[in-house]
Amino acid sequence: MARPSTVHVCSACGHAEARWHGRCPACGEWNTLHEERAPVRAGAQAARTARAAARPVALRDVRADEAPRVRTGIGELDRLLGGGVVPGSLVLIGGSPGIGKSTLTTMALGLMQGAGHRTLYVSGEESAAQIRLRAERLQAGSAPGALDVPVLAETGLEAILATLEAERPQVCVIDSVQTLAAGDLSGAPGTVGQVREVAARIMEAAKRSGTAVLLVGHVTKDGALAGPRVLEHLVDCVLQFEGERERTYRTLRALKNRFGSTNDVGVFEMREGGLVEVLDASARFVGEATRAPGSVVLAAMEGSRPLLVEVQALVSPSELVPPRRVVSGIDRNRLALVLAVLARHAGVGTGTADVFVNVVGGVRVDEPGADLAVALAVAGAARGVVLGGEDEPTPLAAFGEIGLTGELRSVAHHDRRREEAEKFGLARVISPESAPTLRDALRQAAAGRPVPAAA
Ligand code: TYD
Ligand code: MG
Repeated sequence: MARPSTVHVCSACGHAEARWHGRCPACGEWNTLHEERAPVRAGAQAARTARAAARPVALRDVRADEAPRVRTGIGELDRLLGGGVVPGSLVLIGGSPGIGKSTLTTMALGLMQGAGHRTLYVSGEESAAQIRLRAERLQAGSAPGALDVPVLAETGLEAILATLEAERPQVCVIDSVQTLAAGDLSGAPGTVGQVREVAARIMEAAKRSGTAVLLVGHVTKDGALAGPRVLEHLVDCVLQFEGERERTYRTLRALKNRFGSTNDVGVFEMREGGLVEVLDASARFVGEATRAPGSVVLAAMEGSRPLLVEVQALVSPSELVPPRRVVSGIDRNRLALVLAVLARHAGVGTGTADVFVNVVGGVRVDEPGADLAVALAVAGAARGVVLGGEDEPTPLAAFGEIGLTGELRSVAHHDRRREEAEKFGLARVISPESAPTLRDALRQAAAGRPVPAAA
């Protein structure tokens, strides 16, 4: 039942209705009406508009004291944030359930509390007792101080804001935005209207009190920050926590950052006792590379850092029409392009086979520089050969973008990628600098002997 203080606004056309409709009466779109707080009327509104005009100031006269950042004590997180959390800022941490958002945020608060900062952990998902159990593991592991963090298990937005006002913590975690509800909206927690309202009011409180807020948000299966997607424009910083739940590696990526760079990643490993930063990620991934047909090391760039990861492919005869294309860690459309160019320009057809491609360790590589490694892995898998030669002591590495006419195109930082490969002892690196076309690259790579079909 809608209360008179809210309206339902169509996200497509902006039309407002007092009651919820499945279909917008104005523009006819389905499922676009979201509940919002009704605009403030008469008195307050009139008073605001009647105020005298403000005087704009030249930028050079604006005071811009760099507020001292609060270091979280987790090196990779601090680096992603640009050197720590900025007072009064709102950071959204997204990720699928079970990935480790609560673990990461509890660790950060524990370390900050231990370093003498005032913190607060608000949970709408778990009871205080459940949070304590996690904190016990962390206290014994990577975040001494975790048991000293003050905690509030609450889902009512008004109560949380009042607590923030009274406690004035320097850093506060709110886990998660989808579980909170503003009392004056009738929508259930997690609906677009609620999520937007909750985040906006928290933002207001953070800016006013100088409390830095780390807001946790769940993402849906298709990878969008559900609900939080609508928050991306509002918050100062969006960090995305990725990886596969069954695996131990996790990557934390900055998608938006008002106070630092984006497209940087931090690599973590989930252990008993919490998340541990993986500073030598390239060494780990290269050391674990399988060196079987269908395996190639990709020299990727993660923001400003080179990272070596293993790309694996499996090509197997299919009964299905169309055959399966299953990817993990790369873009599915990019694989379609690579397969088309392989078939058309390099004589490697996979039209009647299922193709699976996986970036090992649960890492996601979203850059065109991954094309060549994917193509070589697929070609190696299709032919059943170890590319680069079975007798070579180290795996084959590759990077480069594939063009539609079968040419290889240079990608940014080719020198840094090559250096990283050399640093970890990979003697053979194929790139657009060494091979002008995909066909050339395959020729260079195919020094390996065929392996028996039974292998
Ligand atoms: P969690 O942080 O609760 O995930 P999220 O908040 O994103 O839903 O925990 C994720 C998983 O991490 C959970 O399955 C248990 C595991 N874990 C460890 O392996 N070691 C630890 O020290 C902790 C605290 C959790
Ligand atoms: Mg959680």
